[in-house]
Amino acid sequence: MKINFEKKIKLDFKTNEAYKTLRTNLTFSGDDVRVIVLTSSVPNEGKSVVAFNLANALAQDNKKVLFMDADIRKSVTVVRYGVDKETKGLSHYLSGQCSEEEIVCETNVDNLSVIFTGQTAPNSSELLGNEHFKKLIADMREQFDYVIIDCPPLGSVIDAAVVAKECDGAIIVIETDNASYKIVQRVKKQLEQSGCRILGAVLNKVEMDGKGYLGGYYGKYYGDYGNYGASK
Ligand SMILES: Nc1ncnc2c1ncn2[C@@H]1O[C@H](COP(=O)(O)OP(=O)(O)OP(=O)(O)O)[C@@H](O)[C@H]1O
Ligand SMILES: [Mg+2]
Repeated sequence: MKINFEKKIKLDFKTNEAYKTLRTNLTFSGDDVRVIVLTSSVPNEGKSVVAFNLANALAQDNKKVLFMDADIRKSVTVVRYGVDKETKGLSHYLSGQCSEEEIVCETNVDNLSVIFTGQTAPNSSELLGNEHFKKLIADMREQFDYVIIDCPPLGSVIDAAVVAKECDGAIIVIETDNASYKIVQRVKKQLEQSGCRILGAVLNKVEMDGKGYLGGYYGKYYGDYGNYGASK
């Protein structure tokens, strides 16, 4: 199946530059860092946006990329991209209802493939901890240069730590002025305990006035953020 969403990935110049920087930093983490999980401490910090745009930025750099929506409890990707709700996804595969081939969707963005969550399931951490998930990651490593995995917040549910066990690195997304230092530290510890390397953090939703403290790095929080996420 082929997914059509290119017209929704339209970022303003500064945001686009920020993702290119993130991509460069990731590339310099080493060629053994190819399966990456994104999480945060609390909901709504921007994981899904950052994960998807990072996957897109890597694909634009001619890397073969798989974006995996592993937020099985509550996927927003299907809604955001107007994908058919019947599309088979991760939960179907992990519960043995379909094959790997059935859940990897090509897209109209060159080099970018997607695995959606599938039907929401309450026992997501058990599903993600099973042998099917291990096999899926091992097989996807063979097929793609990068696998970018979007997970729920680790301050709320354990899923991201379970996923991190199979990953080479983790990125923590932090929403400016919202995250508690204590919770972020706890999230960091949990990821480390899963044996996953912390690659760094993305400070998201930085409100900029053009000369703000990140020097225009992350673009404006308000203003034209493209129409991505408009349907949420
Ligand atoms: N840099 C940004 N500037 C403006 N809006 C943003 C930015 N990043 C994310 N958002 C908006 O914030 C909301 C939450 O984003 P997103 O769904 O990516 O968060 P999340 O961390 O994945 O949430 P959840 O924990 O529910 O999975 C969305 O409406 C999204 O469009
Ligand atoms: Mg999300």
